Amino acid sequence: MGNGSSRLIVGISGATGVILGVRLLQVLQDSKVETHLVFSKWGARTLIHETPYNLEQVQKMATRSYASQDEGAVISSGSFLTRGMVVCPCSVRSVAAIANGHGDNLLHRAADVVLKERRKLVLVVRETPLSDVHLENMLKLSRMGVTIFPPVPAFYNHPRTIDDIVAQTVMRILDQFDILNEGKPGRQERTTRKAETLESPRIQSRWRRLSRRYFQRCNTPPQRTVSRPKEDSRGRTTSVHVSIQRLANTNATGTAG
Ligand SMILES: Cc1cc2nc3c(=O)[nH]c(=O)nc-3n(C[C@H](O)[C@H](O)[C@H](O)COP(=O)(O)O)c2cc1C
Repeated sequence: MGNGSSRLIVGISGATGVILGVRLLQVLQDSKVETHLVFSKWGARTLIHETPYNLEQVQKMATRSYASQDEGAVISSGSFLTRGMVVCPCSVRSVAAIANGHGDNLLHRAADVVLKERRKLVLVVRETPLSDVHLENMLKLSRMGVTIFPPVPAFYNHPRTIDDIVAQTVMRILDQFDILNEGKPGRQERTTRKAETLESPRIQSRWRRLSRRYFQRCNTPPQRTVSRPKEDSRGRTTSVHVSIQRLANTNATGTAG
């Protein structure tokens, strides 16, 4: 095991964007940094919901991983030296727990320890829009020296895929800890790859398609339906959903419109 400066605690809580935490661990696998991973219960749930990975696969990406109920784990103690902790992604529930010192699971306890030891804490807070409660908790933490790092994408490097956006965000998070991924193929390529300009016909037509779909969705009233009993070919009664407009036409003309 290494010394404190080579250890980073990685918390993954139940906000959307759990792939950010997964990619962060993958990047660190090639570095000299030891990763100490803790998932919250809801972080594990979002992992299954949003990614093709299971918990065990992601735990194997870390140097060590701990169960969220295990408050006897080393990261629960300030005497276990680390360079700090990143919670990526970080739910607003975890923000509230950390801001108010509720160390009732290992993720929150580890963050509490990082705070009391005045080490670096980076919270990749993912929620939108934000309530006064969220903003007040974040301000409180920021005033304690915590870095509030919402995973807001940048577009000046012309990302072409979601993975481009994820990679760029992960590299910016690692910059917070001065972790340079020298010799890592991909960083330069992924963050500064020359992409098509916004004026290119392909991008323009994709953008037009997306915006058309968006405005169509905004302007189409939700279709209202009623459930109607119907007999199937074997004489069984099932129910079908008929649009109210279609029913109105049936009533007016005697046939389905
Ligand atoms: C698929 C999914 C996505 C979620 N996305 C968010 C989110 O983006 N931000 C957030 O604050 N909570 C989100 N939640 C709700 C949190 O998981 C929930 O508040 C939970 O109690 C957080 O607990 P934790 O901070 O201990 O992980 C999401 C839940 C699920 C199941």
